[in-house]
Amino acid sequence: MTSVESLLEGKRIVICAGSGGVGKTTTAAALGLGMAERGLRVAVVTIDPAKRLATSLGLEELGNEPRQVDPARLAAGGIEVEGELWAMMLDAKRTFDQLIERLAPDDRTRDEVFANRIYQQLSNAVAGSQEFTAIAKLYELDQDGGFDLLVLDTPPSRNALDFLDAPQRLKGFFGGRAIRMFLRPAGLSGKVLGRGTGMVFGLLQRVTGVDLLQDLSVFFRTLGGMIDGFMERADRVGALLEDPATTFLIVTSPRHDPSEEAIHFHRKLMDAAMPFGGLVVNRVHLAPEMDGGPPPELAEALGEDLARRVGESAHELAALAAGDEAGVEHLVAALGTPPSIVVPELEDDVHDVGGLAQVREHLFGVD
Ligand SMILES: Nc1ncnc2c1ncn2[C@@H]1O[C@H](COP(=O)(O)OP(=O)(O)OP(=O)(O)O)[C@@H](O)[C@H]1O
Ligand SMILES: [Mg+2]
Repeated sequence: MTSVESLLEGKRIVICAGSGGVGKTTTAAALGLGMAERGLRVAVVTIDPAKRLATSLGLEELGNEPRQVDPARLAAGGIEVEGELWAMMLDAKRTFDQLIERLAPDDRTRDEVFANRIYQQLSNAVAGSQEFTAIAKLYELDQDGGFDLLVLDTPPSRNALDFLDAPQRLKGFFGGRAIRMFLRPAGLSGKVLGRGTGMVFGLLQRVTGVDLLQDLSVFFRTLGGMIDGFMERADRVGALLEDPATTFLIVTSPRHDPSEEAIHFHRKLMDAAMPFGGLVVNRVHLAPEMDGGPPPELAEALGEDLARRVGESAHELAALAAGDEAGVEHLVAALGTPPSIVVPELEDDVHDVGGLAQVREHLFGVD
């Protein structure tokens, strides 16, 4: 079996993608933990509204900037990190605002944009899509965070594919013909209500839910100068996804629906020429050791009735394990036998450093 370490060689960014509830956040955290153990300075960027990651790492809350996980806390959970483990939870709206702060030519423009109702609606709408802001944040951390490795956890219950074209979609919005037409100086000064305007209003109203002419013209006057910066940023953010130092891990369970989604996502990754690193199949049931039924000594020790019930549940588990095994085989074959890692279903939910340590053991294999 592959160790995740070999998949991360030479990588600065790893994106854990997959469908809802399969263990993306858990995998991202365990991966970060393992690489910090190996001496790297790692940041795990999570989008985990349930705050499970924060809780399991003993952080009261995760802000929009990375915070270091207390090494003493890790040591108490049996993990000695030679490097550093940092974690942050992405606040999409805050990230979008920070982007404006960076791109605004001066404080006045910045304040004007922030105070603008259209911007407020738009930033919520764009931030609501989360994908762009996640990658934008990643870009920023990659540029000046000083980390050896960034691990991105992707949002719950959203289509993982949205990640791939998020920069393009944002560019599409700002670069759209209607917007461009409106941004031309003449469009603003003279023919505010000329041809094309109705279309722009329609578009903006759809995106933002408001249409206020006044706000609109202020919005475009202030944001207008930043559009090129925005487009360029979107380009660079997009390029980051295709960078050879970036890798996508597809996380899935061996069950039917998540597997089919994983196969679909893999195909899209290939179509988009994105760097696919490998497959993590999580929560795989393993066959119980007493596969042929309970040994006779057990019946003696437990009594007939109890032994029979133990036998029955072992039988059920064996059936689950067989199903999962077939699921894993199907997946691996469908993806063209990529590097794959199986993480078994643990006895408990992963809710603390100890649990993460167990997952990381499976991800990294026995050294
Ligand atoms: N190998 C495992 N064994 C047992 N429980 C697990 C395992 N992996 C993850 N879990 C549990 O499954 C639940 C979902 O895991 P996690 O939050 O990592 O998934 P996710 O893909 O990030 O979900 P979402 O799409 O909601 O963000 C959590 O309660 C976690 O503790
Ligand atoms: Mg999650």
